[in-house]
Amino acid sequence: MTTTATPTTVPTTATDGLRAATAALVADGRGVLAADESPSTMSQRLKAVGVPPTEEHRRAYRELLVTAEALATDVSGVILCDETVRQRLADGRAFPVAIAEAGLATGIKVDTGTEPLDGADDGETITRGLDGLAERVAEYAVLGARFAKWRAVLHLGAGRPSSRALEANAEALARYARTCQDGGLVPIVEPELLAAGGHRLEVCAAATARTLATLARALEAHGVDPAAMVLKPNMVTAGEGSRAPAGPGEVARATVDVLRATMPTDLAGVAFLSGGQSSETAAANLAAIRRRGGPWPLTFSFGRALVSPALHAWRGDPTRVGDGRAALLREIERVTS
Ligand code: G3H
Repeated sequence: MTTTATPTTVPTTATDGLRAATAALVADGRGVLAADESPSTMSQRLKAVGVPPTEEHRRAYRELLVTAEALATDVSGVILCDETVRQRLADGRAFPVAIAEAGLATGIKVDTGTEPLDGADDGETITRGLDGLAERVAEYAVLGARFAKWRAVLHLGAGRPSSRALEANAEALARYARTCQDGGLVPIVEPELLAAGGHRLEVCAAATARTLATLARALEAHGVDPAAMVLKPNMVTAGEGSRAPAGPGEVARATVDVLRATMPTDLAGVAFLSGGQSSETAAANLAAIRRRGGPWPLTFSFGRALVSPALHAWRGDPTRVGDGRAALLREIERVTS
């Protein structure tokens, strides 16, 4: 892995404006819509519902999402990928302009995907994207982005996540976060422990605690301002294949306990990923987490749980754009009610 960001222990000079922009992303129960699948991932999802995976179909689908009526009531921002942030709506407006006019902030995925960690063949990965990051952050800010996202992917089981994977990904997340704050974008910091496996909730809790504790140390070492970043973690759940799935009460207790034990109290907020949970399960778990509460705003930054029904309702048919929007709004309503 090569990098251009310089490690530093000097605290960031995050401005009051950046802190305010961060607070706005997680205020009033609003959350973030993740619509930042890479062109190849988005193409697979289009193909799965029988839509030809063209650039125009990817654009049209994202237009459907960001033009859903009154989206800003419950959503504060939309994360886009590099392709979408440069595209325009059918009416000629650039996506960041249309999103701002709808009362939301534009986010941009700035990592460039994963690669095997030091050539490891056990599936562990490191997320790429630090090369030239400061320059890309500056360009995205000019294009209208106000926040960014970087996703580290961690596996659970058979000695994983290894300390090496935790340290390497925490270091990359911290360098990313610091580079964003220095460049005036709010970093969403996403260390995702995948839900694959048959493990019990307690196993996920222990691994999530190690992940977040390692991350917290790296963030501090790089002088990242917690009040100008949003953490996007997995919820603490039993594995997808577990014979003892945990209910929302248990998920909420374990998730909030782990966060309280590892994260600074001046963190601006926590916006959970959905991680392949159904929208019903993700919504029930988030509601229980919110009831349990923490010293920070607790909200969502869901991708699949919110957008999959919209994709299925639309299926590339221009006459079904309204059905797609209605499906998206239904899922958002489920998550926020
Ligand atoms: O990076 C992952 C996405 O932003 C959130 O996706 O809610 O489908 O897990 P998900």
